[in-house]
Amino acid sequence: MSILINGAVVEGPEDPRISLLDFLREQQGLTGSKKGCNQGACGACTVLADGERILSCLALAAQYEGQEITTIEGLGSADNLHSLQQAFLEHDGFQCGYCTPGQICSAVGMAAELKRGVPSHVTQALGSSIAMTRDEVRERMSGNLCRCGAHNGIVDAILETFAEVAQ
Ligand code: FES
Ligand code: FES
Repeated sequence: MSILINGAVVEGPEDPRISLLDFLREQQGLTGSKKGCNQGACGACTVLADGERILSCLALAAQYEGQEITTIEGLGSADNLHSLQQAFLEHDGFQCGYCTPGQICSAVGMAAELKRGVPSHVTQALGSSIAMTRDEVRERMSGNLCRCGAHNGIVDAILETFAEVAQ
């Protein structure tokens, strides 16, 4: 089997029991995705699978044959930052940075959900797309924990980057 990771086709895992997170970090050298809780509670391991945000610690790599996985390394690089990475810098959206790759991957997936009109618990009006308000961002990013308490900067960075896309 093969998986597309950040635009490159790679051989799937020999061990079908390996999580996607361990496969990325330990076998592909993609250590941007972080292992916080390893049980689906913190969001540090969030990556995109065909554009949908998923918790890679709860996923088996073998499930993703033929799908495209995007990690933080696929969104931007030190020389070519994603616009949200730049906004995190400008809004102090991190301290230790451990949660940051997951926050950024999650926010990219979330912006696409809003654009598709996927409602959340706080959505007031359904439609073909949903406005990206502060309440929507707080609710939708609640699965990504920041132990440094940078949530206000994170929300500001997300709003600055994506707010207009969702209108
Ligand atoms: Fe996956 Fe915490 S490491 S949710
Ligand atoms: Fe330290 Fe979020 S920046 S956990």
